[in-house]
Amino acid sequence: MNRIREYKEDDLQDLYELYLDCFYDNPVPFWQFKESVEKGRTYVLDYSGLKAFVISFIEDDEPWIWAIGTNQFMRGLGIGNKLLERVEEYYESLNYKRINLFVGQSNPAQKLYFDRGYRIKRVVKDIYKTEDALKMIKDL
Ligand SMILES: CC(C)(COP(=O)(O)OP(=O)(O)OC[C@H]1O[C@@H](n2cnc3c(N)ncnc32)[C@H](O)[C@@H]1OP(=O)(O)O)[C@@H](O)C(=O)NCCC(=O)NCCS
Repeated sequence: MNRIREYKEDDLQDLYELYLDCFYDNPVPFWQFKESVEKGRTYVLDYSGLKAFVISFIEDDEPWIWAIGTNQFMRGLGIGNKLLERVEEYYESLNYKRINLFVGQSNPAQKLYFDRGYRIKRVVKDIYKTEDALKMIKDL
């Protein structure tokens, strides 16, 4: 999927709409979304408009995947996998040794992460309203 490119400022509104579609159950407000995008590295799939994204940034000196989403009509095609690959390569090129994320305990995205080498480190309470989160880490 070679229509993955780096996010640019003009994408912000479209990106937030796509984010709301993907995270409709518990989205953050626009200002918080904007802050997360602006402090890090975001890649998008641009295929007649934005269809998928991964948002990442550095916190406490380590890379974090903050959010990943694919348009609901394009899921299961390997796009999420490609986006993760892209963002992992980026941080690896900067010499970071691992990458972190949180995922809801019942979110099937866990399989995608597991298949890409992420492993559960611990259960974290109070991040999500309705369920516990898993902290997953991949060594780069
Ligand atoms: C998670 C997400 C980004 C995956 O995107 P994608 O482009 O479909 O990813 P891929 O095609 O590369 O991989 C899909 C794999 O993820 C798993 N998966 C992820 N979400 C799934 C879901 N909602 N239902 C079923 N399987 C899912 C499947 O097991 C699939 O593996 P398989 O093809 O071997 O069966 C997409 O489902 C999404 O946008 N979900 C809503 C937002 C979300 O929950 N993001 C993660 C928050 S931590």
